[in-house]
Amino acid sequence: MRMRRTRNNPLIRQMIKETSLETSDFIYPLFLVEGQGIKEEISSLPGVYHFSVDMLEDEIRELEDLGIKAVILFGIPDHKDSCGSGAYDPDGIIQKAIRKIKDLSAKILVVTDLCMCEYTDHGHCGILDQEGQVVNDQTLEYLAKIALSHAQAGADIIAPSDMMDFRVKRIRQELDENAFENIPIMAYSAKYASSYYGPFREAAQSAPQFGDRKSYQMDFHNGDEAMREIQLDLDEDADFIIIKPALAYLDVIKEASFTFNIPLVAYNVSGEYSMLKKAIEAGLLNEDVIYESLIAMKRAGAKLIISYHAKEVAKWLKEGRY
Ligand code: PBG
Ligand code: ZN
Repeated sequence: MRMRRTRNNPLIRQMIKETSLETSDFIYPLFLVEGQGIKEEISSLPGVYHFSVDMLEDEIRELEDLGIKAVILFGIPDHKDSCGSGAYDPDGIIQKAIRKIKDLSAKILVVTDLCMCEYTDHGHCGILDQEGQVVNDQTLEYLAKIALSHAQAGADIIAPSDMMDFRVKRIRQELDENAFENIPIMAYSAKYASSYYGPFREAAQSAPQFGDRKSYQMDFHNGDEAMREIQLDLDEDADFIIIKPALAYLDVIKEASFTFNIPLVAYNVSGEYSMLKKAIEAGLLNEDVIYESLIAMKRAGAKLIISYHAKEVAKWLKEGRY
């Protein structure tokens, strides 16, 4: 057997190519801030911006032109408090952004990240007790309220990222009771307590003010446990499953793709993005490393990828570079 026979020229390589990446695979993250006239580059995420809602139009047109079909929204409120009330304010930053984007475009699905850490003054993803522990079941009530407010503002898909137990079930119940039974839940099911979120926490001002997230996010020593987390979210009727981060967790994506028949989403997180951008900027790596990394996620079994790279890769795909 001569393996090189099917590697000999670009046409034959194209013919036997097992994995592909398309612009429609991407979900592009957008960071929204209060105020007006703001489009500011985020220092920890080169090429990614904070937008005020009035500045979204050009960005949405650009995404449409590139053929990107979905965005995921993160809001940075002006006001934070102990219960994250800005997260379910009908005139909160996310609710305004959802309405604006739905107004601007019928071609882009709006996914909303559902969490409390950007909205709480302590920076944890839920309600705290007196010892500073996140109280699971009390937090569920807030998550349900936030989910409903996203749906009422016009969100297409709700993506809870808090890692509380039973939140998919509670959110599903809240949506169904309010005639939003057709809004899917994209659950961050296997979300690890990871240092790769550093640049995001700077961008979203959501770093915990004390302690860490290890009592609710997964321990990165564990892979089998991710299958249990995913199974539980499927039992609670999650429509999509997110695995996060992606690059250091390709084994988890692969195992999940063998184990479950459900659309899998890889979250190519902020630290993975900035690491490559900085290495490219420094001349250490060629920018083709970006496409290669994203292909690895698809090869592992991801159907969709949430990525800050979406726009640049969409451009390259449009130009026929790959
Ligand atoms: C909110 C949330 C985080 C990310 C997405 N949603 C941060 C965290 O859990 O601390 C990280 C995304 C990224 O790093 O790109 N809980
Ligand atoms: Zn959070």
